[in-house]
Amino acid sequence: MSQDKPLRFVTLVGSLRRGSYNAAISRALPRLSPEGVTIDVLGTIGDLPLYDADLQADGFPEPVLAMSESIRVSNGVVIATPEYNYSVPGALKNALDWLSRCSSQPLAGKPVAIQTASPGAIGGARCQYHLRQILVFLDAYVLNKPEVIVGGAASKIDAETFEITDAATRDFIAGQLAAFATFARKLQ
Ligand code: FNR
Repeated sequence: MSQDKPLRFVTLVGSLRRGSYNAAISRALPRLSPEGVTIDVLGTIGDLPLYDADLQADGFPEPVLAMSESIRVSNGVVIATPEYNYSVPGALKNALDWLSRCSSQPLAGKPVAIQTASPGAIGGARCQYHLRQILVFLDAYVLNKPEVIVGGAASKIDAETFEITDAATRDFIAGQLAAFATFARKLQ
């Protein structure tokens, strides 16, 4: 039994698609996490309205406040997202824009791990660098390595069950989660 302090991570999924490969990966994370780590999926970013400073002035929407609080009380965030047009999907950027305006900005000083999956060969790698750039302004602490970049996702995730069928993919995701737990404990 590990003597390490228990950690609770939350996942933020960058796709709204029912059959999303990235959502499938995020649902598999609890089974791939090391001992002493629990992982919960955050509310969907599709529940957030488009960022509008006038809406903010009227009071932050409830789903934004709920997401912000879940992140604030967590020990770290795993972002699992597709790449859209070599960059971050608009819905994920919108969520990050809302979170960035919250009074106790929840990603400041928060450990973050990034995972991308795509049916394409490059696995969303290009999106990772735009996402890292955004997270610099939000003052998050992003895990450098190991990176999780799942190329050819259609052959590694079952279309019916959404299970990760590729053992090597499960292993490198588990490896990142172990490194992320060590990183988050160091930052505490
Ligand atoms: C894509 N896709 C895509 N894939 C990629 O590897 N690089 C890219 O730049 C893009 N660009 C892109 C733009 C838009 C608007 C869409 C809808 C799709 C394909 C994308 O990886 C694929 O649809 C994934 O299945 C999306 O992830 P989820 O929904 O399965 O998690």
